Amino acid sequence: MLSPDSRARIDHEIAKYPADQRQSAVMSALRIAQVEKGWLSTETMDFVADYLGMPAIAVYEVATFYNMYNTAPLGRHKITLCTNISCALMGAPEIAEHLKEKMGCSFGETSEDGRFTLKEGECMGACGDAPLCMINNHRMEGFLTPEKVDSILEELK
Ligand code: FES
Repeated sequence: MLSPDSRARIDHEIAKYPADQRQSAVMSALRIAQVEKGWLSTETMDFVADYLGMPAIAVYEVATFYNMYNTAPLGRHKITLCTNISCALMGAPEIAEHLKEKMGCSFGETSEDGRFTLKEGECMGACGDAPLCMINNHRMEGFLTPEKVDSILEELK
């Protein structure tokens, strides 16, 4: 179940599509649900499926395809490092090792203190800033160096 505020936001998204195509709002609905809940549990995805009148499996497919959706609980900050070709050529593997060492966890894991979840991401369309990462789905940091990573981690309490 989502709050009345979230449901109103989803209704606003649904209204952008023809009445018989409520399911077109699924990505927005999942984003709104995730903002409220922090991550997408099966129960939350089932609610979205019912709300949009679509099969639950179709909602799971969307939620598990895009890595901005979190289908498991996370640390307080999610850091998604791009490891695609441009970033890889510009040093992403070294940045990945540095992040893993600093956080004490690997891709797909959360640090023991619950502060960080580290994820591996696909190209974010900003290859000119490689290597880069996305913080909490909304803030991009490029031209990463180990020193810049340290300062970002220090800032994210
Ligand atoms: S390869 Fe990393 S942003 Fe494109």
